[in-house]
Amino acid sequence: MNKEIQILLVVVFFTLVTYWGVEPFAHGAMHKHVDSMNYVYDGKADIAGAEADKVEAKKEFWGSVNKIAALTGNAEAGAAGYAMCQGCHMKGAPNMGGVVPPVLDHAGSLYDKNYLIALIKDPAMAMNTDHKYEDTMMHPMGSIKSMITEDQAIADTVAYVLANLAAEATPKEAYLEACSRCHENNYANLTQLGETPKFKYKKDTLAYRIKVLEEQDLIKAYMGKLPPDLSMLALSRNHHFLETFIENPQSQLKGTSMPRVGLTKDGVDKVISYMTSVADKNADARNSLGWKVILFFVIFTVLAYLWKKEVWSKLH
Ligand code: HEC
Ligand code: HEC
Repeated sequence: MNKEIQILLVVVFFTLVTYWGVEPFAHGAMHKHVDSMNYVYDGKADIAGAEADKVEAKKEFWGSVNKIAALTGNAEAGAAGYAMCQGCHMKGAPNMGGVVPPVLDHAGSLYDKNYLIALIKDPAMAMNTDHKYEDTMMHPMGSIKSMITEDQAIADTVAYVLANLAAEATPKEAYLEACSRCHENNYANLTQLGETPKFKYKKDTLAYRIKVLEEQDLIKAYMGKLPPDLSMLALSRNHHFLETFIENPQSQLKGTSMPRVGLTKDGVDKVISYMTSVADKNADARNSLGWKVILFFVIFTVLAYLWKKEVWSKLH
């Protein structure tokens, strides 16, 4: 065999080993595949991922959540329970223990039923951030545990939410209600305080900026770090990562303080579609330009061919 071919074979061999062996191995080792929970909030993933001394408590907690889920809730009777939610979840609410409680206008269509039950039973357990608390009553929403205690009352309150707050949210509303209290989004002109207004005078702009920084300090104290700006996350992370991260942040980032956001599939799709539309504002314009460019090249190729024939015909 001649030398060139031998060299070629060696190069091909090592290229293929890298491509099919080393790269997938490194990728798999650094980014473990995480299965989606398929939007089922029954505690299986939490129990599987719990520290040994927490397993029993988690089993018991999710066992009782599943029991409450089997009860028939009475939406009318649940109005009394929901009145307690409104004490904190009102428009213009102040920061409570680190964040401003989100408005619940679309909670019935964005959040999963089992998750809502778990949230009233014990917010820190539901969000899978109980590792942060000695006593989960310390969670900013923890006092709900002492306000609605009976299983039937929890089922009724959730029935009320599912029946009365189930209007379809726009992607932006979904994002605002589920993510915006913690994450800034520069491209969308959003901070943790909502849409940033335009001010006539610079001093007002600066005064507003100070309010934002103070809010961010509270969130930092609550979360341990400032949650990242989400402007570009829809491009730097794929759909599967975002979906599994929202369902259960612990699955991707063990020990993280970001709570689970127990959204339904529809809720997650809306949040991601909003994030994508913000991160990639020009996607539609770009896609519609694509076929025009191809058309240009086709016409240009035909012209170039005809021109070449014309030029060469005189030389033969
Ligand atoms: C003591 C105040 C308080 C009460 C009462 C309260 N909440 Fe909350 N709630 C909060 C705060 C604060 C947060 C944000 C916590 C966080 O982001 O870590 C929150 C978050 C939520 C979320 C978002 C959860 C998530 O995973 O993103 C939902 C849904 C919710 N509450 C529903 C309810 C319902 C339903 C009730 C009544 C049964 C209720 N809350 C009662 C303070 C309260
Ligand atoms: C209660 C606050 C809170 C809420 C609500 C919240 N997050 Fe987060 N998020 C965090 C914190 C804190 C981090 C940083 C996690 C860390 O580094 O441990 C984070 C990190 C992230 C990351 C970065 C993960 C990475 O690649 O490192 C993404 C993506 C994200 N959040 C998406 C979302 C989305 C989407 C929503 C709404 C559905 C949301 N978050 C709601 C607190 C929150």
